[in-house]
Amino acid sequence: MSQSYETLLLERRERVALITINRPDKRNALNIKTREEGAALLDELRGDDSVGVVVITGAGDKAFVAGADIAEFAGRTAISQRDVMTARSLFTAFDTFPKPVIAMINGYCLGGGCELALACDIRVASESASFGQPEINLGIMPGGGGTQRLTRLVGEGKAMELILTGDIIDAKTAFAIGLVNHVFPADQLEAKTMEIAKRIADKGPIALKLAKEAVKIASRSLLDEGLRREVDLFALCFSTEDKDEGVKAFLEKRKPEFKGR
Ligand code: COA
Repeated sequence: MSQSYETLLLERRERVALITINRPDKRNALNIKTREEGAALLDELRGDDSVGVVVITGAGDKAFVAGADIAEFAGRTAISQRDVMTARSLFTAFDTFPKPVIAMINGYCLGGGCELALACDIRVASESASFGQPEINLGIMPGGGGTQRLTRLVGEGKAMELILTGDIIDAKTAFAIGLVNHVFPADQLEAKTMEIAKRIADKGPIALKLAKEAVKIASRSLLDEGLRREVDLFALCFSTEDKDEGVKAFLEKRKPEFKGR
């Protein structure tokens, strides 16, 4: 039984858990409560075998997430801000979540919202979505992974320009620079995202977890170390019943039934 959350909605569709950040009046800006509840909800879903994939989106038709809650910045000290970003990092919680996470970007995806999307594994956007790291306009800079994850994803030149200008780009441009995987008309966003999520959720959960871990290593290690760790994770798959089932099903020309064992 799920506990209830003040700032989040949770909907289960087969093996996909759809999380909606529910502060549309504030363009789903991330306040402390949302960060804490987001991390707590991921903890709840982490060990839930009925969930294979998580999709995160924003309520309403205007925003995915318009950034950190700027109202909370007023009066915050350097140390308390550092605590919010480290001890309670929602971004790390998504990045290290042991199941695939898809950001379904339905509008403004700015600042901490862009950083949240960057901490997800796949980003799918509506044609009306827009992206940016506008922190520079507030006299600050990205602090939730923007300078690191954005740079790794789109390259230093594009990341630098977005971060230094604070410019907002549209979904088409975000797709062109590799910031998002797909762009769909707004009225198709949910169906198309769910289609991708359900396709992934049908795979073996252990193989998904290990594959995600291996891909994440690529941008955090030297090639030789990454290749060694990939072999170890690949070999680990051979200890699973899912591997036996996957191979058997292929040879018997049928669809595999993975059990997550
Ligand atoms: N933090 C706190 N509140 C925010 C917010 C944020 N990041 N983004 C929007 N809101 C609030 C507004 O203050 C406003 O609240 P109010 O109705 O109580 O006055 C409400 O959400 C609606 O915002 P509004 O600006 O009227 O909506 P809009 O659709 O015209 O514009 C944005 C949307 C996202 C372009 C604009 O709100 C904006 O620029 N937000 C800040 C983006 C940003 O700098 N993010 C990085 C933060 S580090």
